[in-house]
Amino acid sequence: MNLTINKERLLHDLNAVSRIGIGDHGSVTRLVFSIKELRSRQLLIHLMTQAGLKIHIDRIGNIFGRWNGANPKAPAVLAGSHLDTVVQGGKFDGPVGVVGALEVVRTLKENKFPLPCPVEVVCFVGEESSRFGFSTLGSSLVAGVVHTKDLANAVDAHGTKLEDILSSMGIYRDNLSSIKRDPASVKAYLELHIEQGPILEAKNKKIGVVTSIAAPTRFKVVYTGQADHSGTTPMEMRKDALVAAAHLIGYVEEIASQYSRMEQGRVVGTVGAMKIEPGVINAIPGKAELSVDIRSISAEAKTHVAGLVRERAQEIAAQREIAVEILPIREEEPVPLDESLLPLIREICEQKGIDYEVMPSGAGHDAMQMAKITRAGMIFVPSKRGISHSPLEWTDPEDICLGAQVLLETVVRVANEEN
Ligand code: GLV
Ligand code: MN
Ligand code: MN
Repeated sequence: MNLTINKERLLHDLNAVSRIGIGDHGSVTRLVFSIKELRSRQLLIHLMTQAGLKIHIDRIGNIFGRWNGANPKAPAVLAGSHLDTVVQGGKFDGPVGVVGALEVVRTLKENKFPLPCPVEVVCFVGEESSRFGFSTLGSSLVAGVVHTKDLANAVDAHGTKLEDILSSMGIYRDNLSSIKRDPASVKAYLELHIEQGPILEAKNKKIGVVTSIAAPTRFKVVYTGQADHSGTTPMEMRKDALVAAAHLIGYVEEIASQYSRMEQGRVVGTVGAMKIEPGVINAIPGKAELSVDIRSISAEAKTHVAGLVRERAQEIAAQREIAVEILPIREEEPVPLDESLLPLIREICEQKGIDYEVMPSGAGHDAMQMAKITRAGMIFVPSKRGISHSPLEWTDPEDICLGAQVLLETVVRVANEEN
């Protein structure tokens, strides 16, 4: 295909997005529903308007920028990702897929490339779970897979409930399914993303073709002991909730490590956030709340390890004679991506002489939700030293442009497929 994306424009717009929320050491923070995140969405709307796309914004704020092909009534090929970030994250986790898709559509449109169906650039709201512990919020609503019980424990560090934010936008328990997109209106979903792991760089491959996405089981563990004076309370009389939490954190690492080999399901376990009360130097912690995130590409291995962690959480509480509560956040199945898109992307790489790797994704993506209503495929580009969710996250601009070019060719191939 002799159609080439405009690298300069792509990198320019990626840069513009990454300046929103820029902080120390080049980190980027755009937590979902923060002013910075909203500004990044406004910039995208501006860029879509400039490109002459027809914009639709649903009730949660997911943005769809559409270019109608020859048949506006045909199901559309969707391509995108997210613009929200973790706290002090990088520039590319998410925006590469959104701005990459925008560049693809701009290239098609300005070249008046004949497409038999519409193509839409998508920006999903709230892919990251950093604020509420709830990931892929916008795409989950589009896929119609958010249920009331999932929202019960989704609360941010300041006590704001996700449910309250949703209701301020007219999204209530009884209309959660109203944002669901009609699957008949979608032909496929494609997502370009940085790998966020070390495989491509280690193997000197330029593109990753994704087979499946590991899924998380997430819950909070709340230990309640007794806050007391740190100077007067003898060691044998303490009910220290934080020490109980510390034992559990050690166990999460230990047990996940025992199941971490690929053939065991590549289980990973993390305690990434904790709240301590009263949280002062001269009081024994009376309450410790920790978040547990266990992921695997095998549902069985994940369920097994999560079960062991829950059991251990109870045992620790019993041994220390303190109370424990386990609050579920989200339980998801690992998601296989579409089997027909995979060979198609491989073929494009082969034709272009690109070294590629067929691989699973350890990170979560909007594609895992979209796969529930349509055919979903993902294209990875290498992450320097495998680092992401960190200011050190980096991908070579040439690699980003190559990924966008592969996305362009994939969109064209998929659009032209017979149904
Ligand atoms: C998203 O990046 C996640 O997997 O947490
Ligand atoms: Mn991320
Ligand atoms: Mn991401």
